[in-house]
Amino acid sequence: MDLSALETPCLVLDRGKLEKNIASINQRMATLGVNLRPHGKTAKNIDIVKMALDGQPGDITVSTLKEADYYFSHGIIDMVYAVGVAPVKLDHIAGLIKKGANITILLDSIEQAKFAAAKAQEHGLTLPVLIEIDCDGHRSGVTLDDPLLVEIGRLLHRENGVTLEGVLTHAGGSYQCQSVDEIRAIAETERHTAVACSEVLRQNGLPCPIVSVGSTPTANFAEDLAGVTEVRAGVYMFYDLVMAGLGVCKENDIAISVLTSVIGHQKRKNWVITDAGWMALSRDRGTASQKVDQGYGTVWTLKGDPLEDLIVSATNQEHGIISDRSGGALAWDSFAIGSMVRILPNHACATAAMYDRYYVTDGSTEITDVWHRVNGW
Ligand SMILES: Cc1ncc(COP(=O)(O)O)c(C=O)c1O
Repeated sequence: MDLSALETPCLVLDRGKLEKNIASINQRMATLGVNLRPHGKTAKNIDIVKMALDGQPGDITVSTLKEADYYFSHGIIDMVYAVGVAPVKLDHIAGLIKKGANITILLDSIEQAKFAAAKAQEHGLTLPVLIEIDCDGHRSGVTLDDPLLVEIGRLLHRENGVTLEGVLTHAGGSYQCQSVDEIRAIAETERHTAVACSEVLRQNGLPCPIVSVGSTPTANFAEDLAGVTEVRAGVYMFYDLVMAGLGVCKENDIAISVLTSVIGHQKRKNWVITDAGWMALSRDRGTASQKVDQGYGTVWTLKGDPLEDLIVSATNQEHGIISDRSGGALAWDSFAIGSMVRILPNHACATAAMYDRYYVTDGSTEITDVWHRVNGW
């Protein structure tokens, strides 16, 4: 079947680009001498995650328990649930552990540690725990100089039902970097902070076998990962316009796109109207704060070639407006009613989350596979 026969909007995945992106990060990790724990939150699909695990130990990261259930049902045992744990989810996690999964949870407070220990004792099992470290003020976590780090460590070490496995940090600040040099610097801060926290724990007689770091930008530009035991990243599998704007990839590396139909022309305004609005593209405007604002996405042909200077400049729920960056006239012959174009996403995780499946191509317009996604919670 050909892409042109699909009902739009829908999500297209270029397998060749996916494989190249995966191989490139795996090569980097091998050079740096560290394992990759791919993040399953971007793909939310087992076929893709299995490809990402090629040459790696087989452990993954998840962002929802739905992903954990799904990946476990496809044979993946070892998962870090890398979102600070909510007490209400502990029964679910305990259930997965009883079935044989090895789920490590993440926390950064005494309260969460106490909830986890109590729940584990109630279920008669042991919950492995990582302490979340804040390396760049991006979101959550304990800072290197905070005595809470050792307090949580001591509690986990002392209590029955929980084991202190180590520390985890995520340099989310890397998404706001203005240059590749800044990404290199933040990668070193990410590494240094995590390793220093592990040393603080060890100096206090506490175990810290895992030192986990990662984001797609820092995974791409870290120059040294001494002391780190694993890197987590997910967006690298697909990449997106935010990553291209950061200099982490080229626009041509982006493996997913939204296929959309032309449904109208506003020739007075130099607009092409499509059936991919924000429900199809997501409302993510991550490139708005970058040097080049890509609107809701750049426009490529059905065959997968860039249409220079065209972006989705505005969206409604089910309508997208394509225009030239400069507002100039469009080549109307290229946008016949019913013809199709592809939109490259600002943020791959957000755009892919709008779909329940990928239409996989081999680089042409022929569909070679249909792979499902596990959305929701
Ligand atoms: C805890 C954690 N680890 C790793 C990642 C992966 O980073 P990226 O999305 O840049 O691949 C994320 C992304 O949100 C995350 O929250």
